[in-house]
Amino acid sequence: MNIESLTTAHDTDQLAGQTQEKNPVFNRSDRFVEGWYWALPCHRLKPGQAQSLTLMGRELVLYRTRTRQVVVLDGHCPHMGAALAQGTIDGETIRCPLHRWQFDQNGQCIEIPACGQHHTIMANAKLCPWPTAEHYGMIWVWTGKTPKYPPPYVPELEGMDCDAALSYRFERNCHPNVLMINAIDAHHFNSVHNLPLAVRFKAKALNDNALCLDNTTRGGEASKFVKLIRPLYQNEVTYKMCYWYGSTGTVTVGPDFFHFHIMFALRPTPGGKTEGWTLLITPKRFAGRFMNPVVLWITRQVAAYFATGDIQVFQGIRFHFKTPLKADRSIVQFAQHLNRQKALSWGDWRSVT
Ligand code: FES
Ligand SMILES: [Fe+2]
Repeated sequence: MNIESLTTAHDTDQLAGQTQEKNPVFNRSDRFVEGWYWALPCHRLKPGQAQSLTLMGRELVLYRTRTRQVVVLDGHCPHMGAALAQGTIDGETIRCPLHRWQFDQNGQCIEIPACGQHHTIMANAKLCPWPTAEHYGMIWVWTGKTPKYPPPYVPELEGMDCDAALSYRFERNCHPNVLMINAIDAHHFNSVHNLPLAVRFKAKALNDNALCLDNTTRGGEASKFVKLIRPLYQNEVTYKMCYWYGSTGTVTVGPDFFHFHIMFALRPTPGGKTEGWTLLITPKRFAGRFMNPVVLWITRQVAAYFATGDIQVFQGIRFHFKTPLKADRSIVQFAQHLNRQKALSWGDWRSVT
């Protein structure tokens, strides 16, 4: 890192001021951004199956109907609180394991066996339903009433049919917002990954909940490695991120003629920690049946390369941001974008902003 690219003392103070003010949501364990969060890999929920899931402190039941629709409701029966994940799927509905009350996909009670079908109690017996989607091989849950956007996607692949594969599941000792910082931390490409590139990002909001950060530099001209791969690309190295809800990030990387796409789908766990999945994505293409498994295998190696060297750091980090540099500007922009998003409180998912 060239010292000249570091900021002046005045700029440093300004950046520190921006990040040390009270964050409405960034890196907080008692709040999270309203949005889409990964729930479960699609293949782990077969028709007729139910599973419990605690998501940002709220207990839910997920089930797949006989017609393969995924339904997500609050996880405990409004009668005596039995866990609905222990119940049975009856067509498109779920029945409580204890007294067999039956709930439809909207969480409405439609039968109380002891009272028949038209008892007035039924009208008041309702579970909260949560919007769901299946996308890139994952079940997603929206933590509000009505989704503002589709589930997180790679901007370059918007609207395209894709093949996706789950790579690996992981847990980390820091908050997802902190883990997201890794991919836009310009310093660390040299210091951790040994890449001979001076990476600088341009931030642009895709929408209220998604921030794109694109590399704008060619760089590395003195490096033998860069000279070797230079014929593969004319412009800057493609390295683009899109950060959704501060928890799910897509990475697009590669030479001009071929881009690899990786998604890091994260969610916060109690105490400001992280659990997540690495997803590998590529567009469906002619002869993709033969080619795409190979492309996804290479994408897996690219994803593993970026994770190497970082894992230990993010297990031990106690994040604070007391001395930001000019080169940390993307991180500040990310935190600011995140702090403008709607925050919900942990556990009851009520709005706090
Ligand atoms: S506890 Fe669910 S029906 Fe009684
Ligand atoms: Fe890294």
